[in-house]
Amino acid sequence: MSKAFQGKVAIITGSSSGIGKTTAIQLAQQGASVVINGRSKDKLEMLRVTMEEEGLSVLAIAADITSYKECEQLIDDTIKHFGHVDILINNASLTMNDTFENIHPDTFNQVLLSNTLGAMMPTKAALAQLRRSKGSVVFISSLAGLHGLPACSAYCAGKMALTGFWQSLKIELDHTGIHFGICYVSFTQNDKDKRMLAGAGELVEVEERPAILKQTQEQVAKAIVRCVRKRKAKVVLSRFGKFISVLYRYMPRFTMFFVTLINNRRKTA
Ligand SMILES: NC(=O)c1ccc[n+]([C@@H]2O[C@H](COP(=O)([O-])OP(=O)(O)OC[C@H]3O[C@@H](n4cnc5c(N)ncnc54)[C@H](OP(=O)(O)O)[C@@H]3O)[C@@H](O)[C@H]2O)c1
Repeated sequence: MSKAFQGKVAIITGSSSGIGKTTAIQLAQQGASVVINGRSKDKLEMLRVTMEEEGLSVLAIAADITSYKECEQLIDDTIKHFGHVDILINNASLTMNDTFENIHPDTFNQVLLSNTLGAMMPTKAALAQLRRSKGSVVFISSLAGLHGLPACSAYCAGKMALTGFWQSLKIELDHTGIHFGICYVSFTQNDKDKRMLAGAGELVEVEERPAILKQTQEQVAKAIVRCVRKRKAKVVLSRFGKFISVLYRYMPRFTMFFVTLINNRRKTA
């Protein structure tokens, strides 16, 4: 296995499960010292032990990344342990499945904040360190960050906000030598215990997508790691994702008509 990240320190937010976990493992296997993060200490501890048993360099830090204070602590603890920060992958996110009419304002807020401030606060807290290392920041977005979709208004609004934030930083901080990338992740296989938020904040099972359209977490993590290594600006994942993004860009009226048609059919089915 290549050791392209030997000597590098990478923080991956929301890496106690799913895509973040697989990305952290791949970066560590390629030589990076990784900081895994999430809110649940138990989930983090289980992963830390497993990774250490495999001889990987890992530090677990529980922090809610929507809080700037906790993000500052995340960076301080990383510096105390590893001495520097080279890579920040803003992956943590809450997702939802309910209509705007049904969703409680608190649930809307939770989803929106995790996808906006949840990427902005860690970036702000890590910026001085990333300037020093001329490091890399990657935002994990979604096809929902390219076009609005039904039953996930707060998620779409949050992921679209990430595009504006990424563009601003890419222009504003060009002179610093920091790499800013964004990955629009397509349908991906989920952990069996992954849950989404519905109306009043209850957790519900994730809606299954057709298997043929789904990438594995390993494929997605590989693309994220490649985005860091090649310092790519924008990556749209999977053939399906690339097709959809071209459709959104060149046939916006047709796309809006088609998504509305499918949604109306589902409601009357
Ligand atoms: N899976 C897909 O089909 C898909 C498709 C497109 C885009 N994506 C994007 O890919 C990324 C990863 O998705 P995933 O499916 O792998 O998610 P996941 O399995 O639900 O994992 C989410 C992670 O984020 C953490 N997290 C949530 N809120 C947090 C907070 N406030 N502070 C710190 N950590 C927090 C969770 O841990 P705790 O609960 O312990 O905090 C968990 O580790 C997300 O940005 C998502 O939008 C996924």
